[in-house]
Amino acid sequence: MKLRINGTTFRVEAHPLERLLDVLRIQCKLTGTKEGCGEGECGACTVLLDGEPVNACLVPVAHAEGRSITTIEGLGGTEGSHPLQRSFVEQGAAQCGFCTPGMLISASVIPAGARREEIRCALAGNLCRCTGYSAVYRAVELARAKRARRRAR
Ligand code: FES
Ligand code: FES
Repeated sequence: MKLRINGTTFRVEAHPLERLLDVLRIQCKLTGTKEGCGEGECGACTVLLDGEPVNACLVPVAHAEGRSITTIEGLGGTEGSHPLQRSFVEQGAAQCGFCTPGMLISASVIPAGARREEIRCALAGNLCRCTGYSAVYRAVELARAKRARRRAR
């Protein structure tokens, strides 16, 4: 089947019920998406499917065919990093990095102007065992504030 990932078409051979997570990591070599629990609890495997965050460990690959998939590699990398990624670095919001790709993907679709409580809710499905969440919330707020300032100029 063909998958549209980060704007590029990938041809993969997979059983329709194979997990999207495995196809992304093994066949497409997009290893930025992590596996934590493997059962829909931790959010480490979060990707966007048509702009909506989903747990790739629970999504059969056939369900993603013909849809737009965004992984952390599509958000930004060492060259051309996303403002959220820079804010995470500035605020020390990432340590082991296992949860960070999923957090960034979920955070990327939080509406502009979201308040702290809304940010908390939007990230409730992304668990982190290392940093606690204050730095993460601050990083999301910082990225949004910077974007608002850029728009105001
Ligand atoms: S690995 Fe998918 S939710 Fe934990
Ligand atoms: S930085 Fe370690 S689990 Fe999030």
